[in-house]
Amino acid sequence: MSEGILLEPVARGTLLPEAARVARLEAALPQILAALEGETDEVAVEATLACLLWETLPQANWCGFYRRVADRMLAVGPYQGGMGCLRIPFERGVCGACARTETTQLVPDVHVFPGHIACDDATRSELVIPITVRGQLRAVLDLDSPHLDGFSGAEARTLESLLARVFSRAVFPTPGMG
Ligand code: SME
Repeated sequence: MSEGILLEPVARGTLLPEAARVARLEAALPQILAALEGETDEVAVEATLACLLWETLPQANWCGFYRRVADRMLAVGPYQGGMGCLRIPFERGVCGACARTETTQLVPDVHVFPGHIACDDATRSELVIPITVRGQLRAVLDLDSPHLDGFSGAEARTLESLLARVFSRAVFPTPGMG
């Protein structure tokens, strides 16, 4: 049993077959939604998601949030994994591309992504999903993996839907920008 969520234990760094990854994520969804039921504080939601998604996604070596703290600036939020860079301007990295375009960035090989920021040299693939609330980009969810192609389109779509649900009524202390 993994701490915080009822899933079969899987060793950190394991890349399960895609179908098993999707099934594991779908089994986690009702538990994550129950854990966050009624929560509106941005940091509480992000900290809980970082914890539970870390347990759900064993292929990840980094799982967390970058929050919009100025018109075109992201700052690190709650995360699991090695130390993440503190600030990312919209002009840089996979997270910046996600924030700038407000579109999901599914990167099967970060070595061929122009401007990728390597917080961990072991990272080979990345998935970054925008969190847009009431028409404003407020944060991004950043997932890294040491495996090439560590995340799939099906996982991305499931996570997009989860984020839309849990942030729909969130209250963000940082005043809206942009
Ligand atoms: N790789 C990200 C930077 C954040 S660290 O990976 C946690 C990027 O290129 O934006």
